[in-house]
Amino acid sequence: MRIIETIHDLNVALAPARRDGKRIGFIPTMGAFHDGHLALMRRARKECDIVLVSIFVNPLQFSAGEDYDRYPRNLTNDNRLADSVGVDLIFVPSVAEMYAKGFRTFVDQDELPTKLCGEHRPGHFRGVMTVVAKLFSICRPHVAYFGLKDYQQTLIVKRMVVDLNYDIDIRTCPTVREEDGLAMSSRNVYLGPKQRKDATYIYKSLVYARKMIDDGETSSSRVISEVRRILRKIKGSRVDYIQIVNQDTLEPVREIKGKTLIAVAIRVGKARLIDNVMNQ
Ligand code: PAF
Repeated sequence: MRIIETIHDLNVALAPARRDGKRIGFIPTMGAFHDGHLALMRRARKECDIVLVSIFVNPLQFSAGEDYDRYPRNLTNDNRLADSVGVDLIFVPSVAEMYAKGFRTFVDQDELPTKLCGEHRPGHFRGVMTVVAKLFSICRPHVAYFGLKDYQQTLIVKRMVVDLNYDIDIRTCPTVREEDGLAMSSRNVYLGPKQRKDATYIYKSLVYARKMIDDGETSSSRVISEVRRILRKIKGSRVDYIQIVNQDTLEPVREIKGKTLIAVAIRVGKARLIDNVMNQ
């Protein structure tokens, strides 16, 4: 496995693969790998000739007061884990490499980024789209992999790829969970032992909601009240949102019929955690 820090070196490293028509699979990440990241890498290993992973904590997608400075960074361990699942190349650019002096161009989108997390993290998805567009231009992969824990991000990236004519196949993988159901996230390290235990109520509340819907409940507000009741068990937490939305538009639905996404964002101590399930 090679670790590459500059765009120039990445182009040199990928040139033979590009010339030989090899299929490049790409996983953009912010590092601090857990099994969710590794699942994306393993899938890329099965489906592509070259597996390329980027590690870049993107300052553009954090607002003032968010966790950019303390976001977990553990390059040595990340390199070891990526190597263990057969990654070929790790691209670890610096902030200056990605955003050279004078950088002025941003990618934005109507509608989807204003929903769910967009209401609570202004500018977040503009930052995500800008960096993902840049990484796509730099890496020029054939396939790119994203986890469904960030469901909204995957929808926005899929829309961006169509709108900006990137010839990249976006593949999504299911959320990987701890044994007790908590969705794996690099931010789980912010949780103290009691918070970590309480955080299991997030997935429990979503499973309960899905069961209510499976059993015939069609009122979003009734399901949301039950989710809220369960989330109250998490001491010192503050809900950002609990929403039941259309899976394609992320518009809230009042009456549940057909496919919906039940999505939650909650602050537990210093961690802002998100999770979601689909009812179908
Ligand atoms: O999901 C993430 O880790 C980030 O939002 C991404 C896609 C790597 C962009 O910085």
